[in-house]
Amino acid sequence: MTEQDNPGVLMASEIAEQPAAWQRLLTEGTDAIRAAAARIAAYQPRFVLFVARGTSDHAALYGKYLVEIHHALPAGLVSPSTMTIYNSAPDLRDVLFIAVSQSGGSPDLVQSVEVARRQGALTVALTNNPDSALAAAAEIHVDVLAGPERAVAATKSYTAELLALYLLLDYARGGDGAGTAELPALGAEVLESGATLAATAERYRFAQRLITSARGYSYPTAREAALKLMETSYLSAQAFSGADLLHGPLATVDPSVPVLAIVPDGAGGRAMAPVLARLAELRADVFGVGAADAIAGLSAGVALPTGIPEPLSPLVEILPLQQLALHLAIARGGDPDRPRGLMKVTETL
Ligand code: F6R
Repeated sequence: MTEQDNPGVLMASEIAEQPAAWQRLLTEGTDAIRAAAARIAAYQPRFVLFVARGTSDHAALYGKYLVEIHHALPAGLVSPSTMTIYNSAPDLRDVLFIAVSQSGGSPDLVQSVEVARRQGALTVALTNNPDSALAAAAEIHVDVLAGPERAVAATKSYTAELLALYLLLDYARGGDGAGTAELPALGAEVLESGATLAATAERYRFAQRLITSARGYSYPTAREAALKLMETSYLSAQAFSGADLLHGPLATVDPSVPVLAIVPDGAGGRAMAPVLARLAELRADVFGVGAADAIAGLSAGVALPTGIPEPLSPLVEILPLQQLALHLAIARGGDPDRPRGLMKVTETL
């Protein structure tokens, strides 16, 4: 049987590979990440800027939460067009500038790093391709060691980026990556409990619109789940912070618009309680991923194992959502390995 006869075979195998990819990074990648972290600590940044696109942009958003919460430093996401289209050259002294990219191949990211380097920032490229132009452009390269990603929809490179960012930023503040050693086993457990998601996908087969929502560290998960659903199932999926959802877009929810809510154990998950209460009033169909008690009253969901530190939860909570995107695309008659209108390397300026 060829890949052509077997829709989603590449995406499915790369979803399944994630615990092994994390183990590889934890075993073979940490010396290099510790060395990069030592250079960051010596530099003592006053501000951290991230630049990325698509899925990697969601990993960058996760990094922004880590910097703001763990390092108590301001952090932001660059708008690449300011440097590539408007030729802006901001003063970036004392800024740590981190580019995140699976391929390291997008010209706008390369150009942003070149500008940032000239403008005084300490530049880091975090990629899955050490031979890329982006890796060469930055002073420091961090290899996420996910192995070649063949499916067009990024899965294992995303969680490898999350783990590499967590380790880099944790080491840079004197941490030792506590809690990360358990991740491969936890990931395998969560993937196993997602085995029922092919049946769940049938439930959402005819959805035209869908909303994803979370708070805090899990907000990047909501964004990434929406992107995965849009690019593989061609439905309109919009991600909102739970707070933003309550500020107006809740008006677009009715029982025909499924909501995917991420409610991990921790402050971000607890902050979703008023959102879930309003969704219940609207009789919305809510699929939850998170703490067993938080998802107990919802329409459907996947419970995560207990004891996952909230900052590490994004690595595991995206897994069932990747599986759901895969199964939904297949249930709708598509092939998530050949999504229309998307290439593996997107070259933007
Ligand atoms: C999503 C996807 C794209 C890429 C984006 C950035 O599944 O593959 O959104 O994530 O084009 O690509 P890289 O990470 O190679 O810069």
